[in-house]
Amino acid sequence: MPPKQISRREFLKWMGIGSGAVLLNGCTPNFLTASSLSPTALPAAGSPDVEVALEAIPGEVQILPGQATRVWQYRAEVLRGPADAVRALPNSYLGPIFNLQRGQTVRVHFSNRLSEKSIVHWHGLHVPVEADGHPRLAIEPGETYVYDFTVVDRAGTYWFHPHPHGRTGPQVYQGLAGLFLVHDSEENSLGLPSGEYDLPIVIQDRIFDGDNQLVYGGQGMMDQMLGFLGNRILVNGQPDFTLPVAGRAYRLRLLNGSNSRIYKLAWADGTPLTVIATDGGLLEQPLWKDYLTLAPAQRADLWVDFSGRELGEQIQLVNLPSAAPGGDGVFPILSAVVDRLEDVPAALPDRLSALNGYEEADAVNRRSPRVFTLEMGRMMSWTINGRTFEMLETAEDEVVRLGDLEVWQFTNQAGGGMGMMGGMTLPHPMHIHGLQFRVLERQIVPELREVWETLSGGFVDSGWHDTVLVMPGESVRVLLKFEDFTGLYMYHCHNLEHEDMGMMRNFRVEA
Ligand code: C2O
Ligand code: CU
Ligand code: CU
Repeated sequence: MPPKQISRREFLKWMGIGSGAVLLNGCTPNFLTASSLSPTALPAAGSPDVEVALEAIPGEVQILPGQATRVWQYRAEVLRGPADAVRALPNSYLGPIFNLQRGQTVRVHFSNRLSEKSIVHWHGLHVPVEADGHPRLAIEPGETYVYDFTVVDRAGTYWFHPHPHGRTGPQVYQGLAGLFLVHDSEENSLGLPSGEYDLPIVIQDRIFDGDNQLVYGGQGMMDQMLGFLGNRILVNGQPDFTLPVAGRAYRLRLLNGSNSRIYKLAWADGTPLTVIATDGGLLEQPLWKDYLTLAPAQRADLWVDFSGRELGEQIQLVNLPSAAPGGDGVFPILSAVVDRLEDVPAALPDRLSALNGYEEADAVNRRSPRVFTLEMGRMMSWTINGRTFEMLETAEDEVVRLGDLEVWQFTNQAGGGMGMMGGMTLPHPMHIHGLQFRVLERQIVPELREVWETLSGGFVDSGWHDTVLVMPGESVRVLLKFEDFTGLYMYHCHNLEHEDMGMMRNFRVEA
């Protein structure tokens, strides 16, 4: 069954959800150890190790049989450094894929060849403010913006996308997004599947019209409130995605690149998913899940062993029903088909990575957190602590100190809000720029536990994250540290329609 377009019934389902008191217990995590995130994080000086020209341009790709689809896409060229520092994703509007080593210095010349303002944001990377792609830095058509930074992040699956205010949703929807893969020696020593056995899987939903052109409804009221939901699943920009595989182990790097759809992913035959990495790279050890919840912008790397499979066997990744908008019904995401057998032993290491946490975490978590309440405000807009986006402003409670370790709490207020839409509550994938955080704890109000439980079994809260799903009636606490860079960063809902409506705020790191 294909994913449904959002119905009025479903829209109404999310309104009028009851409220309840949120009680957080003071339990402290015991998983945080070792040193800080990054050794040094200074911008590149002089000649960078890798220099890339990146442009955003209109184009056409063959997606469906018949007429080609008009898209917007990024194209890149390596000006300096290894030729494989950037590679294109064949037959796709998506990409390119950056392949960098931790420690490399990078310069990217971004040229805007679109008909409107744009800017590139490196999602998940720890970069100086000038390289963060804040909407205030958006450039006009014909202009170029130069990014300079050092790759200090852990090996992992990061990505990049446009970030102009009010137009992120439509620009990503038109095709602008790519992956930024970071490699390091720790990861190399593990012998994980690499090369052609290490594959990107970018999941998106789209709507096509009768002429094979993309339809973005993001301007309508229902789409703005709920977020855009497509009726067709694309993987790496392709419909009915089939992956020919060898009978051996693979690493699949999943990115939910959808504007707002939340996936509940599972192998159709019930094989548990083996998760080895999250937003910020490898987990301490692999973990097994019956299903995986992947909210917009989140990544998860799966380790998949096809070695026990027969030639010609088909293994399907599906979306299971959940309470997420558009989430009723089972529909396929992709099929892997074993087209050759290979005699390669599939060895999954039981220890993957030292997580490099924060030793002081316990003490910090006993202090009161910085609380951000998410709710539907007046004028039918989603708000954070009652506010919507202001380009250059920060409120008093949005100023933090360089070097501080803090606990932030996102509380998704059930039944709050005012006016006609009062009481509407939706899941919000909350994202913080410029850093990776740890998820400390979650609390759900009893009235909404049942809704929560349709997705909560698939949360992967261990490891490092830059985006966390906050369900209706839920409070999530995260631990974060402001390191190396001062200036204006942002935090926002990564449901792109919510973001474009202003469910986004700045925070300022001060020395
Ligand atoms: Cu991927 Cu400000 O976002
Ligand atoms: Cu980001
Ligand atoms: Cu939201």
